Amino acid sequence: MAIASRPFRLGVLGSGQGSNFVAIADAITVGAVPAEVALVLSDVAEAGILAHARSRGIPASFLPSGAFRTRLDEKAERAAVAALQATGVDLVVLAGFMRVLKAEFLGTFAGRVINIHPSLLPAFPGRAAWKQALAYGVKVTGCTVHFVDAGVDSGPIIGQRAVPVLAGDSVETLHQRIHAAEHALYPACVAALARGEVTVCGRVVSVAGGGPVVG
Ligand code: GRF
Repeated sequence: MAIASRPFRLGVLGSGQGSNFVAIADAITVGAVPAEVALVLSDVAEAGILAHARSRGIPASFLPSGAFRTRLDEKAERAAVAALQATGVDLVVLAGFMRVLKAEFLGTFAGRVINIHPSLLPAFPGRAAWKQALAYGVKVTGCTVHFVDAGVDSGPIIGQRAVPVLAGDSVETLHQRIHAAEHALYPACVAALARGEVTVCGRVVSVAGGGPVVG
């Protein structure tokens, strides 16, 4: 919820093109999300997300990740925590961030880190979930916004949106349809959090007024 004198602050972490970041930033611009993006960090120097942020005048930094392939090393994780804390972020938004965050990071921002995943969790956690869905032959898949815990795509679910798998879908067409659904779902979930409409009881997340659910 907005702190009396200032807007609700988001810190966004991403590794890729940043279309979800753009969707959230656009929703903020039109007043649909009562928040501001205070900082964007990426572990990929040339990531589109950094360019998108800079073109909007939002502070954006490359975060060298260190020696590991799937996570930040200790120094990098400490640098990320320090930058996010210095900016006073209320919520850490993972938008295509391809590295696992460790306990120290998650402990610092306990209950304040969210992620979007391109499937209806708990189905198809992990990489390339849309490929997994297509290969499995499900007829409905979708996307999920969830709190981040120590597991892989396993935290409490805030919102989900369903996407049909159509006859003749390719990996690309299905991924594109899921992406479009993400661009509606993620801003809606961030808005609910910024408005203080979200409560968590164990695994069960409640959103006042019904919130962002299967569309
Ligand atoms: C999205 O499909 C999201 O579900 C996954 O990474 C992708 C990021 O896409 N976690 P973008 O960089 O926001 O376009």
